[in-house]
Amino acid sequence: MILLGIETSCDDTAAAVVEDGRRVHASVATSQDAFHAKYGGIVPEIAGRRHVALISATVEHALQTAGLPMAALDGVAVTRGPGLIGSLVVGVAAAKAIAYAAGKPLYGVNHLHGHLYAAYLEQELPPEPPFLALIVSGGHTQLVDVRAHGDLRIIGETLDDAAGEAFDKTARLLGLGFPGGPAMDRLAQQGDAAAFAFPRSMLSADSLDFSFSGIKTSVRYFLESAAGSAAKREDVAASFQAAVVDVLVGKTALAQRRLRHATVVIAGGVAANSRLRSEMAAWAGREGVRLLIPPLRFCTDNAAMIAAAAYFEARPADALTLGADPNLPF
Ligand code: KG4
Ligand code: ZN
Repeated sequence: MILLGIETSCDDTAAAVVEDGRRVHASVATSQDAFHAKYGGIVPEIAGRRHVALISATVEHALQTAGLPMAALDGVAVTRGPGLIGSLVVGVAAAKAIAYAAGKPLYGVNHLHGHLYAAYLEQELPPEPPFLALIVSGGHTQLVDVRAHGDLRIIGETLDDAAGEAFDKTARLLGLGFPGGPAMDRLAQQGDAAAFAFPRSMLSADSLDFSFSGIKTSVRYFLESAAGSAAKREDVAASFQAAVVDVLVGKTALAQRRLRHATVVIAGGVAANSRLRSEMAAWAGREGVRLLIPPLRFCTDNAAMIAAAAYFEARPADALTLGADPNLPF
């Protein structure tokens, strides 16, 4: 089964062609970073308008790269939420039109399920449910018990900021550009992670929930202090990153001790973080757990993961009534 995937939930206009949820024939994305950078964050109105300008050419590009006409495909999968409403509607409208015109089934996909199913793309040995997943993106941080395809349960989530949001907001305090996560990761690689002890909020010892708003505030107060203004930015970046990663690894370890699944998947944009990848790998090695982190290009927003989720969840929608939902529940 070969699906066209479309993803426009935030600021990347993406399309992909994926076979059986695993083999990627094409995955293309047009980043809008340059349009939002000068505002220091994503401007929803601009994102929606850019999607309108880019969507047709992006889908065309994916089909051409795959060397397949729409007629040869088996359906269209599109992100229907959660995300920015003005961005989501562009992808959903395009997907409905393409599916209707080509007479193919349409699949509406939850963006976060997409991040999780990125673990199946181009993977020789994909994870077998049940497994534990940590989804860490710009808008979400959650631990998911994947009992079976279509039976996903959130067992812990952030009570305030998402991990990616903490990276982006703290990066702004350090004067790094937008998006802040990758810039913070690069700067941290030149710094001393033990230079400053920023708080590791674990909530209570047995809680699987996260809280990241305190660390950003604590970095802000530190930077405003005498010690902070003299501190090297790379040391601040490395120490902040170490604190966030400690919490993510600690909570994942706690969830794993409870569930005892053989495999742990880390997904979402923050899974691109070099320290998170190495610390998780070290922990998994000690515990004898199989750790699966998608390649970088499938960690951040992409359309291949949307086609993969649609394949495994296999819930066709009505091409006329499918709607975008900015607050789509998990
Ligand atoms: O999953 P994603 O592409 O979009 C959402 O659905 O949110 O995640 C974007 C987030 C941003 O907050 C970005 O700063 C963060 O992922 N990110 C990183 C890294 N690469 C992207 N955070 C830390 N280290 C990175 N290397
Ligand atoms: Zn995302």
